[in-house]
Amino acid sequence: MAITCSVFIATSLDGFIARNNGDLDWLPGSNGEMGNEDYGFKAFFASIDTLVLGRNTYALASTFKEWPYRGKHVVVLSSSFSSEPKHLVEGAEGLALAPQDVLRRLAVSGASHVYVDGGKTIQRFLQADLIDEITVTRIPVLIGEGIPLFAPSGRDIKLRHLSTQAFESGFVQSKYAIIHSA
Ligand SMILES: NC(=O)c1ccc[n+]([C@@H]2O[C@H](COP(=O)([O-])OP(=O)(O)OC[C@H]3O[C@@H](n4cnc5c(N)ncnc54)[C@H](OP(=O)(O)O)[C@@H]3O)[C@@H](O)[C@H]2O)c1
Repeated sequence: MAITCSVFIATSLDGFIARNNGDLDWLPGSNGEMGNEDYGFKAFFASIDTLVLGRNTYALASTFKEWPYRGKHVVVLSSSFSSEPKHLVEGAEGLALAPQDVLRRLAVSGASHVYVDGGKTIQRFLQADLIDEITVTRIPVLIGEGIPLFAPSGRDIKLRHLSTQAFESGFVQSKYAIIHSA
């Protein structure tokens, strides 16, 4: 079965996922604790079986009081790992593989819906045309500078708008399907 790769992420209105030093102080609920409104995260999380995280996103998640990915297969990417999995906390596996090779490996282990998270990691998967869906929740704040969600990819990436929902908090969430290049 083909693997679906999804992004579910929050950005400032000016397109950043974190401050330059990684701070998420501008993002309500960033300590891993959700308020009453979860912006569809629980349903999304229930739909995935695997996470592929960049090293920096893993570093943040591993500081949370509770491991936020319990019950899911977690792959952490870093060039400091190798193509043989390194055992990390809570059964997470550290790997250094190109996005295509990560998915080939996950296909063998039966993955069907992968949550790709972390700015650079998302950008690399997008560049390889391996992302299928993006849900972006825009937070009404301009932080001026930070770690961007998107980066130049050398080609246009077309998307199909699926839905947009505005919440009372002022958060605006849009879902897109990627139109694959071939
Ligand atoms: N706003 C949100 O919803 C949200 C969501 C997730 C994360 N964040 C924040 O975003 C920040 C992290 O974003 P980030 O752009 O720094 O990136 P990231 O994707 O979390 O981590 C980047 C690192 O992942 C490794 N990597 C990614 N793909 C790889 C590959 N194919 N092979 C080998 N290594 C690979 C590299 O590690 P090496 O340098 O070790 O090679 C790279 O430097 C954190 O501050 C986090 O809190 C925000």
